[in-house]
Amino acid sequence: MRPSGMQIKNHRNWLTVLIAAVIGVGCVAAKRAQESGRKSEAAPPPWEKVNPVRPLPEPPLGIEASFADLDEPPTPERVRLGRWLFYDTRLSADGTISCASCHQPECAFSERKPVSTGIHGLRGTRKAPPIINLAWTLYPHFFWDGRADSLEDQALGPVVNEVEMGNTHRGMIRTLRRIEGYAPYFKEAFGSPRITKERVAHAIADYERTLMSGNSFYDRWQAERFEDDFEDTPETRKLEKAHDLFFGKAACSRCHLGQNFTDSDFWNLGVGYDPKTKTFDDIGRYKVSGKLYDKGAFKTPTLREVTKHPPYMHDGSHKTLREVIEFYNQGGIPNPHQTGRIFPLKLTDEEIDLLVFFLESLEGEGYMDTAPEAFPQ
Ligand code: HEC
Ligand code: HEC
Repeated sequence: MRPSGMQIKNHRNWLTVLIAAVIGVGCVAAKRAQESGRKSEAAPPPWEKVNPVRPLPEPPLGIEASFADLDEPPTPERVRLGRWLFYDTRLSADGTISCASCHQPECAFSERKPVSTGIHGLRGTRKAPPIINLAWTLYPHFFWDGRADSLEDQALGPVVNEVEMGNTHRGMIRTLRRIEGYAPYFKEAFGSPRITKERVAHAIADYERTLMSGNSFYDRWQAERFEDDFEDTPETRKLEKAHDLFFGKAACSRCHLGQNFTDSDFWNLGVGYDPKTKTFDDIGRYKVSGKLYDKGAFKTPTLREVTKHPPYMHDGSHKTLREVIEFYNQGGIPNPHQTGRIFPLKLTDEEIDLLVFFLESLEGEGYMDTAPEAFPQ
């Protein structure tokens, strides 16, 4: 009996050792897993550090609006994702062009070129407009001819434009799905890690909504001029004269109106009309509406930050602000479809200078950003 008892005991010992060993290994594994879990909490991937989730910015002075007014306000998580996508060159066919290649932050998300250069150095026919204060527009008209009616609708156009990013939506999605690092942020922003073109558009549009411009000299003057303790300076007196001209004799505010200095409407000023051949380089809004009076008409652009992105107009045909105002002063370029709102203004040289000063007073803040230094991998 004994020996067998001993055997049993030995056997039991073995069993204990074995169980202990299994548990031990299990514990170490669990602990390792826990530690690595903790590690990923403590040290997020490098691309997260340079693009943390940030609260939505406050609209600056002069922009009387709130994200809460929007049907679907942006969320901080979608904005973070959209910021990466906006600056990520991998969205283009050959990985060289991002939205920011043409919409450069330091130019109020426009650029200092008459027309854009996209993939393979191909040139478009229109200038990249600024992307500021687009969350709140009088009418939802995007592009120079208004062919998109939401920022979401707009966002995917450039990806497949053959002279811009030269990709296909499928190609873009395939690339993004291959980058493992992106899926968690789609989950964070949309509730599931699925990457679709609609989600890409939504995230980019939300990032764009946070790009604003206000708190300019003009806005501060507007906010303070009727206060009791307001004191005139030579600069504010000059701005007042310029303001009266802009809203009065020069009649700029017929179209450049509201807090964003645009009526979101389309007008033919004669830009791009050749009186010799009697043709337009670009028929503009006509292509979208089919209405004859829209021939050669383009969307009124915002004048905020206009100093940041010469040359001017949809075709970049005017090098300076003074040149633009001289163009208005002569009554634009007369043509059969020109709007009656444009006529010779008879401005003096000094008045032209004042209008330039007015436009300069619209330099503000609320849009500055730089590309994130790292992207999901
Ligand atoms: C190759 C240069 C280029 C690239 C790249 C580019 N854009 Fe543009 N963008 C333009 C041009 C040019 C226009 C005006 C085109 C038109 O009106 O027909 C424009 C227009 C826009 C507008 C309309 C603004 C308004 O006020 O109507 C938005 C918004 C915009 N782009 C966002 C984007 C986004 C988002 C991307 C990246 C997915 C992007 N763009 C990539 C050149 C570019
Ligand atoms: C009839 C409407 C209308 C009136 C009045 C008007 N504008 Fe414009 N403005 C536009 C449109 C439309 C464009 C774009 C035209 C184009 O590109 O073909 C434009 C373009 C501009 C630009 C170029 C902006 C850019 O981003 O390229 C400036 C600057 C400007 N206007 C200033 C003025 C000033 C100053 C006045 C008054 C002297 C004025 N505008 C009067 C409709 C108007």
